[in-house]
Amino acid sequence: MRITRIKPNVKGEIGDVQDLSLLDPLIAKHKGKKGNLIPLLQAAQEMYGFISKAAFDKLSRETGIPLSDMFGVATFYAQFRLNPVGKNIIKVCHGTACHVQNAVEITESLEEMLKVKDGETTEDRLFTLESVACLGCCSLAPVMMIGDQTYGKLTGNEAVKIVKNIRLAENN
Ligand code: FES
Repeated sequence: MRITRIKPNVKGEIGDVQDLSLLDPLIAKHKGKKGNLIPLLQAAQEMYGFISKAAFDKLSRETGIPLSDMFGVATFYAQFRLNPVGKNIIKVCHGTACHVQNAVEITESLEEMLKVKDGETTEDRLFTLESVACLGCCSLAPVMMIGDQTYGKLTGNEAVKIVKNIRLAENN
């Protein structure tokens, strides 16, 4: 079963080099405003998919917010990513309903197929595998979400098949 969701807007990464000038409008918008740190970091992450050291440096330098404050917030909240992620983020739900419906089998099957551990990104940067809390569609348990699609009532084999098909499409 598939449910369409809004796809995150990830842009601004050119190969392994980030175009940091994309931060300029964000800095102009948030600089000097009270309570601006979290929205600023969220916007930066939306731009690149994660917040790099170079992006932190530029944000700190040009907004005057100390780097230590930025790291403090970014490491406190689970929503922020400090490392690059794959083009497709596979979120396997391990909330209670999915856990009792054997979500572990889904994660283990995908770990074996992708040759990564939970939380890691494949060498080709196509996939990041991660366990998440409830995705809000427990009646479909066990559930995984990839990009804008949610897949429910899965088995490990079905999850692997879905990911293999995405890989095939990506490589064509
Ligand atoms: S527990 Fe998995 S969607 Fe709610």
